[in-house]
Amino acid sequence: MSICVPQGIISLDNILPDEPLLMMGAGPVPIPAKVAAANGIVINHLGDTMAQIIEQVKVMSRYVFQTEKGLILGVAGPGSAAMEMAVANLVRPGDNVLSICNGFFSSRLAEMAERLQANVTKVVIDERQAASAEAVEQHIIRTQPNVLTIVQGETSNTVHNAELEQICRVAKKHNCMVIVDAVCTLSTMELAMDDWGIDAVITGGQKGLSCIPGVSLVGFSEKAWNFIESRTDQLRHWCLDAKLGHQFWYKKSYHYTAPVSGILAIHEALRLVCTETLPVRFARHERCSKALQAAIEGMGLDLYVEQLARLNSVVGIRLPQDIIGKEVLRTMSNRYRVEISGSFGPNIIRIGQMGEQCRTHNLFRTIHALGSAFIDLGYKLDLPTGMAALESTLDNMR
Ligand SMILES: Cc1ncc(COP(=O)(O)O)c(C=O)c1O
Repeated sequence: MSICVPQGIISLDNILPDEPLLMMGAGPVPIPAKVAAANGIVINHLGDTMAQIIEQVKVMSRYVFQTEKGLILGVAGPGSAAMEMAVANLVRPGDNVLSICNGFFSSRLAEMAERLQANVTKVVIDERQAASAEAVEQHIIRTQPNVLTIVQGETSNTVHNAELEQICRVAKKHNCMVIVDAVCTLSTMELAMDDWGIDAVITGGQKGLSCIPGVSLVGFSEKAWNFIESRTDQLRHWCLDAKLGHQFWYKKSYHYTAPVSGILAIHEALRLVCTETLPVRFARHERCSKALQAAIEGMGLDLYVEQLARLNSVVGIRLPQDIIGKEVLRTMSNRYRVEISGSFGPNIIRIGQMGEQCRTHNLFRTIHALGSAFIDLGYKLDLPTGMAALESTLDNMR
């Protein structure tokens, strides 16, 4: 053997902190104990037990996606793989695609369509603004797209496309299929796949669902599935070919070895959503996020996006002059054991409000850590007023 045994490798016990940090960034988010336990189990991916679990995952996903007849597929891969599965199966080379680009992730959908050699028109929305249904309709009329891609919540700059429902309806009116990236929003706020006429909904595990990263879900409408089935050209992606995925998800047969532990974890995450119910979950997210926002403003910091276009699932905080985001993050992490996120461009830091992050005890700890970190870095702010705003908003929205 010419390659020697590596030296100096230390165990995870010596790398990871004794007490896990509180994950309050833009994902991954903390996972409930049931999800963590399920993620530690390995079973036969083609046996009867797995088949029963898959059936339940599909039933529960239909509730979470709000679709009666939509076809649910799991994807062994990150949210980006689910994005790519939706795009690769609904977009053919040469197709017209209209991509609403609010930022980093929605632009990724456009790039995926470009890589498939589609004719992509990008509508770049001004920073901190949401897309307007009226403007999107004009672009649809002008470019006659087969497919429109859009994000519900643009995690990168914390913008919410609040007119998503109207945009989907407008696209449907013009016979254009709609792909919605709901990676950070699914189960945190309303999204009605059937009712709004969405053809593909994409989600990842590690955000709204409070599950692990690396296992994702896609929902296709009946129209989208008919389109996929009628395609006679060979898809360029093998793993992400939805017709091949269908073998495993609907025919109990082999496509690739399914990520069984991750699917078990998704099962538990979905079960917890169903137990809580969507209306109760949406209200919990709204209450916690609004309280967090009030606390941030209460202590004297500015939110990045105005109310009308502001995402609740991930909250952006504008950094004051002379304050370096990385230092805030490092101080929060090292001294207060709370992790939040930096940015993909704008001068902001971001706090997530997805799944388990939306618990009042986590909010108090996060606001304390945020305010204290700024004070430690020499910035004057009013932490007690922020704390009081957190408490009173939680009380008022009880
Ligand atoms: C809105 C949105 N879309 C897509 C993705 C990509 O997900 P992943 O990083 O799991 O590939 C993310 C991840 O942050 C996201 O927030």
